[in-house]
Amino acid sequence: MNNKMMPKLLITGFAVLLTTIAFSQHRTPWNVPEDIKTKSNPYTSDQSSIARGKNTYKLECVRCHGKLGKGNGTSADLLDTQVADLSSDKLQSQTDGELFWKISEGRKPMPLAKRTLTDDQRWDIINYIRTFKSK
Ligand code: HEC
Repeated sequence: MNNKMMPKLLITGFAVLLTTIAFSQHRTPWNVPEDIKTKSNPYTSDQSSIARGKNTYKLECVRCHGKLGKGNGTSADLLDTQVADLSSDKLQSQTDGELFWKISEGRKPMPLAKRTLTDDQRWDIINYIRTFKSK
């Protein structure tokens, strides 16, 4: 190896190290693809959609997110990662498309729901989660 290559190698090594550190943190930004953000919910937020969403939420989400979405479900204490508060402004200000994508893909320790729940079930859950806003 010649001397000219050393700085390049060092810079590359440093970049790799920083990337590794960034991705090993839990709280890195959870970026959603731009075109997904504007995807709209095919279900009107009516009573039957909300009721269906509530049922699925109770089965799949309540153990971590809690009854009112505060992030205090019975399993929450067992996790190293803070469970998101679904009633917060930070959450409620996101579009349905963003929430749909996050629920579908999951992020450790939250399981991905796209294999266990149908698209319809996930959209209904979003209508239900919107009712946490005022609670
Ligand atoms: C095993 C526990 C667990 C289960 C089950 C779970 N979640 Fe989560 N959820 C989490 C954790 C932890 C986070 C925070 C993840 C992060 O920020 O990296 C999260 C984050 C989220 C977010 C994103 C919040 C934000 O900050 O943008 C949404 C939306 C969400 N969950 C909805 C759901 C729904 C809907 C279900 C049921 C289908 C569900 N979760 C099931 C633990 C869970």
